[in-house]
Amino acid sequence: MRKPIVAGNWKMYKTFDEAVDFVEEIQQAIPSPEKVDAVICAPALYLPTLVVAAEDSSLAIGAQNMHFEDEGAFTGEISPAMLSNINVDYVILGHSERRELFNETDEAVNKKVRAALNHGIVPIICCGETLEEREAGSTESKVAGQMTKALEGFSAAEVEHMVIAYEPIWAIGTGKTATADDANAVCGSIRAVVVNLYGKDTAEKVRIQYGGSVKPENIEELLAKEHIDGALVGGASLQPASFMKLLEAAA
Ligand code: G3P
Repeated sequence: MRKPIVAGNWKMYKTFDEAVDFVEEIQQAIPSPEKVDAVICAPALYLPTLVVAAEDSSLAIGAQNMHFEDEGAFTGEISPAMLSNINVDYVILGHSERRELFNETDEAVNKKVRAALNHGIVPIICCGETLEEREAGSTESKVAGQMTKALEGFSAAEVEHMVIAYEPIWAIGTGKTATADDANAVCGSIRAVVVNLYGKDTAEKVRIQYGGSVKPENIEELLAKEHIDGALVGGASLQPASFMKLLEAAA
């Protein structure tokens, strides 16, 4: 039985004050950590404050990206060493917005996953297809290619603690959700990739989230599916009431 994990991806939204108020408002009401892992992935600038604000609760704080090097002349970048030093627990890696808008490659994602593990940060590794790829019938080969590369060079023991997020690009921020059956089929195909690479025991432990227009109205149907172990949520994670409903549905 895999524990569900619901992560909010705030992207480039919220002022500092709004972010702090959000965490202070929800932190004592988070459902039991035995039932669901709750994560907020906030803008980097807010992370140190939010980690402290959430420290007496089971809410975990994550980053939305990082560099793979520990330090160096990389103007504007944030390193895994910096994130672990302020006790960030999770990092989203390879989000389609980073891949499409900031030219992030599969190879860079793989290096970032390695760097995250080296620093004790749980990676949430994203994959997903465009509408054209879905219509061309290449969804499963696209995500299999992305995940095969992202997972290259790890041990089974490392892989079982990772989180994978399947996010069809056409469903992100569009209000169009993949049907629960379609999302489950792709998540199942991702689990099959992990079976091939690392064996059944590992694949049974890896948690696979669905992301793309998840909201309180559709999360239960999605999470009822065999291969969907949680959600990575953009828009519906921005309001405390909505985020709490998502957590309660998953718990
Ligand atoms: O990472 C979460 C995201 O890309 C989905 O966004 O707004 O469709 O829930 P949204």
